[in-house]
Amino acid sequence: MAANFVIPAKMKAWVYREHGNAADVLGLDPELELPEVQEGQVLVKVLAAALNPIDTHRVTGVFQLPGFSLPAVPGYDLAGIVVKVDRKVKELKVGDEVFGIADEHGTLAEYTAVKESSLALKPKKLSFEESASLPLTIQTAHGGLERAGLCPGMSLLVLGGAGGVGTLTIQLGKEVFGAARVAATCSTGKLDLLKSLGADLAIDYTKVNFEDLPEKFDVVYDAVGQSERAVKAVKPGGSVVTIAEHNKTLPPPAFSFIGTSDGSTLEKLNPFLESRKVKPVIDPKSPFPFTQAIEAFSYLQTGRAAGKVVIHPIA
Ligand SMILES: NC(=O)c1ccc[n+]([C@@H]2O[C@H](COP(=O)([O-])OP(=O)(O)OC[C@H]3O[C@@H](n4cnc5c(N)ncnc54)[C@H](OP(=O)(O)O)[C@@H]3O)[C@@H](O)[C@H]2O)c1
Repeated sequence: MAANFVIPAKMKAWVYREHGNAADVLGLDPELELPEVQEGQVLVKVLAAALNPIDTHRVTGVFQLPGFSLPAVPGYDLAGIVVKVDRKVKELKVGDEVFGIADEHGTLAEYTAVKESSLALKPKKLSFEESASLPLTIQTAHGGLERAGLCPGMSLLVLGGAGGVGTLTIQLGKEVFGAARVAATCSTGKLDLLKSLGADLAIDYTKVNFEDLPEKFDVVYDAVGQSERAVKAVKPGGSVVTIAEHNKTLPPPAFSFIGTSDGSTLEKLNPFLESRKVKPVIDPKSPFPFTQAIEAFSYLQTGRAAGKVVIHPIA
């Protein structure tokens, strides 16, 4: 029998009514109206959320989606429970535990409305916190490696191996794409983290210039914005994908990649998550409680997070 949930008319949500620094413009609204569930959407009771650099760019206004308007709730990543479905929703039902990307209404709120196609069932063996840490970064890692043509037996260099995207790119490179050798860059204190994720070679960028190493790679995945240097580390005929440089001419063979929200990728990766062959990496300062969302933004903005900045519990 389908579960029944009492859905309130108003909710707690972090809201920005103008663009600026998160610390200046984000406010906790105790009585925001719940979003309407549109065609093909479900209403999710958000139990955990995670932050990404793009959340900062949206709050400051550096990045804006077409049709975007203020006021707005920040946040893409979520894990939670479906509490209502539109009649055109095909698979999901009330009571399902889900994770994914909310690209319209934001996730730093008790409830959000999301397209069914952007969600997948939460891996049973992962907590809501762990699940919320994954969607945007794992889809960006997977999509970028796919576009770069990483194949079994190839070598991979990940620039920015300790970040939200990098920690997953190392693991997907090894476990999902079958790379024979994975190298990754980070600062001194994070070398052990990279090795624990399966990196064969952890390069301390404070001591070594990766492009000066004699070893060259079939694929370089740039999550820092170092394409000029990255192209010097790739083998002839290899690929360089960057997710951190978009509005500039990139040196060949580098190309830019932008991830999209797609629940089917999350479904495809489910066996690797359930078996923990690919593990969520949550920054040790996480989770931040909902009331400390501004502190969570400030921490993310240091650019030093190891894995993901998660917000839990919500409200
Ligand atoms: N195109 C897309 O679809 C897409 C999607 C997601 C993210 N992005 C972009 O990709 C970038 C990474 O995102 P993220 O979520 O992984 O960010 P993040 O989690 O905030 O990255 C933080 C990590 O970056 C590392 N780092 C900083 N400078 C470094 C350097 N010079 N060399 C190596 N590592 C360095 C830090 O490690 P240390 O402390 O060791 O330096 C830290 O662990 C951001 O620019 C983001 O906007 C793009």
